Amino acid sequence: MSRILVTGGAGRLGRSVVAGLAEAGHEVISADRDAVPDGTFPAGVKQETADLLVPGEAFRLLERTAPDAVIHLAAIAVPFSAPEDVIFSTNTRLAFAVVSAATELGIGKIITASSPTVLGYGSPAGWLPESFPVDEATPPRPWNAYALSKLIAEQTVQMFAAAQGDRIRYAAFRPCYVISPEEWAGAPTQQGHTVRERLADPALSAPALFNYVDARDVADFLDVLLRNMDSIPNGETFFVGAEDALATEPLAALMPRFVPGSAGRAASLTGTSPAFSVAKAKRLLGWEPQRTWRTELAHADQARADETRAGETLVGAVAGPATAGPVSTGSATPGSQETK
Ligand SMILES: NC(=O)c1ccc[n+]([C@@H]2O[C@H](COP(=O)([O-])OP(=O)(O)OC[C@H]3O[C@@H](n4cnc5c(N)ncnc54)[C@H](O)[C@@H]3O)[C@@H](O)[C@H]2O)c1
Repeated sequence: MSRILVTGGAGRLGRSVVAGLAEAGHEVISADRDAVPDGTFPAGVKQETADLLVPGEAFRLLERTAPDAVIHLAAIAVPFSAPEDVIFSTNTRLAFAVVSAATELGIGKIITASSPTVLGYGSPAGWLPESFPVDEATPPRPWNAYALSKLIAEQTVQMFAAAQGDRIRYAAFRPCYVISPEEWAGAPTQQGHTVRERLADPALSAPALFNYVDARDVADFLDVLLRNMDSIPNGETFFVGAEDALATEPLAALMPRFVPGSAGRAASLTGTSPAFSVAKAKRLLGWEPQRTWRTELAHADQARADETRAGETLVGAVAGPATAGPVSTGSATPGSQETK
């Protein structure tokens, strides 16, 4: 067990990372500008409220809490959600402040969140990789401030790794489009649509090249990474994604409709193959994602059906034998909400 401080622990991904690491037996501290309501995290998780852009704040927080490892997630997480200069300066300053403070304090393991967007897909000027699936060897070509800030976050840990040698272990990871447990159940995803809407309309997932990952798989990845950081090369970057694509059709057919000129290069993406490879994480760490949209939507349907049945049983018990029999609770049958 280690003591791990997670910046941005109150966020969409952070909440699952904090919960997952706590459930894996670590002592976890969530540090964020915002606090989550009591009871959100598993028992024992501590919350620290801090604005990590305030000069010296990251250092004071890390000195006081003395973690063994830092996972830096805090950022403006959505491209174009603020002016470009604000996204650039916020994300690069946050990454530098946290990684440099952790380094100065000699914290042994330092991980920062990057993003697959560093590759540059979606550029209005066009983008095509040499081949699919893309992986960590695909050259990054960021075309907006968010993607550039994430590439700089990766280079920030590489810079410190170059200066420190193996005294401190660093890594960066690129989580694909994160889907949290409540989003499988129907809550809106980061871009405002539900998962089922994203599946029904491929144009919604095409901007991320149909990539996605379950937030709990990211937490598992980080647990495995922390446990293995001492025995892999320092300063590595990893894609963290699902083993399939967030699509109901093979990407060999879908990709050419959304990425001009990609037909030949995407021809190998048959069946459920994703456009992003996680082979490096498998090879170096032995990590593999456990959840797919098929397994998680099936669980969500099952949970809804169980709830409906439990509600019917309760109504039947209250109404008594005279009215016993099929009772409508007014809720939709499982699956009927899917098409909305
Ligand atoms: N969600 C995704 O699909 C996705 C994909 C790729 C990469 N990422 C990266 O993962 C990380 C987490 O993403 P997320 O979706 O959870 O984002 P989020 O916006 O839900 O969470 C970010 C958190 O950072 C906190 N924060 C921002 N500025 C801060 C500051 N100055 N001091 C302290 N806390 C601050 C926010 O309060 C928020 O809770 C980000 O670095 C993001 O770029 C996310």
